[in-house]
Amino acid sequence: MDTVLYELKDYKRTGSLSEADMAELRKAADILGSGGLVAFPTETVYGLGGNALMKDASRRIYAAKGRPSDNPLIVHITDFDEIELLVAEYSDTARKLAEAFWPGPFTMIMPKADIVPMETTGGLSTVALRMPSHRVARELIRLSGVPVAAPSANTSGRPSTTMAEHCMEDLAGRIEAVVDGGSSDIGVESTIVDVSGDRPVLLRPGAVTREMLRAVLGEDIAVDPAVEHPLEKDVHPKAPGMKYRHYAPKAPMVIVTDGTEDRIADRMLSIAEERLSQGLKTGMIASEEVCGRLIRLKASKELPFMSTEVKGPILLYRLGELLIINIGSSSDEESWARELFAALREMDACGVDYIVAEGVDEHDIGFAVMNRLKKAAGGNIISV
Ligand code: TXA
Ligand code: MG
Repeated sequence: MDTVLYELKDYKRTGSLSEADMAELRKAADILGSGGLVAFPTETVYGLGGNALMKDASRRIYAAKGRPSDNPLIVHITDFDEIELLVAEYSDTARKLAEAFWPGPFTMIMPKADIVPMETTGGLSTVALRMPSHRVARELIRLSGVPVAAPSANTSGRPSTTMAEHCMEDLAGRIEAVVDGGSSDIGVESTIVDVSGDRPVLLRPGAVTREMLRAVLGEDIAVDPAVEHPLEKDVHPKAPGMKYRHYAPKAPMVIVTDGTEDRIADRMLSIAEERLSQGLKTGMIASEEVCGRLIRLKASKELPFMSTEVKGPILLYRLGELLIINIGSSSDEESWARELFAALREMDACGVDYIVAEGVDEHDIGFAVMNRLKKAAGGNIISV
């Protein structure tokens, strides 16, 4: 199958949808309406969309991603009126959270209505609903005329995609089309809250933070143990997707965290040098501040030739077999969120054998960033 790329040229340049862009979106929407699969941008990451009410579309989504079919999909809508068609129960708590965070990077698990096929919910009696805020996602869903089931548009297990190029990399030949609307703003997947039980539970951290949830709920939200201890054997996550190795680059990875910039830089470089001395191509992901220190430290030992490259959103330094990605200021967790998956993919593209990454503070969206980093590193963390 040839995968068509619909590039929204004017939207990418100006942020508004021209007539020409709308014509492209209509073609993509027709594909969705007739049961085909289309990857499209949202404010969090790109989604791999199909008609959520068609069993076959959902089955094809699992096949295209290589995803286990017990891992349910998120159903995307554009209107508050659609909620009650898709859920069996819309509680007061759910209503309050929907009003506070929709449209936006927020997903709620609710008891499903019969109309939602088990193929879409991975056999569960609950459904995940999200109302995205991204202009392109909203127009596409609205034009398709159906609720759109969309997991992240990556091959199962790989880092999620935040650019159309990355969707093509993983899914070309397996889906009908990709809509290119530029880079996703947030960069990590939506916050998931389960409101199907007695009290709301956070299943996956995202840009709607614990602090923001507390402001609406009036108390701290319960956090699923699998979020804090993702890798303990006897912890069974309530979001089936969180149990799989996830967000993972091909190379093994370690996180260095909890220390001054100097201590972090020292430790990162000593780990990297050990790996380099074993003949391994080594990649580092670090804050702007630590990058500066790393480069000075490295230069004080020998004088490597350093080249700088800009690859999409990524700023990459090459010092021989050592690659360093500057992911933004350590106080700018939003920049980490935006660039993390592209950075992990760049490490794969460069063919590194080992990755050393710096950790971030776990407040606000930093909590979501650390959650993804920990999963990518398989829990391999060093505090300095
Ligand atoms: O930001 C996002 O949420 C993106 C964009 C495309 O909207 N989508 C996304 O979907 O991240 P996906 O499939 O990669 O992640 C969905 C997660 C999985 O961990 C899945 O197990 C969980 O949501 N999930 C879905 N339905 C569920 C349910 N009924 N109960 C518990 N967890 C559920
Ligand atoms: Mg995913």
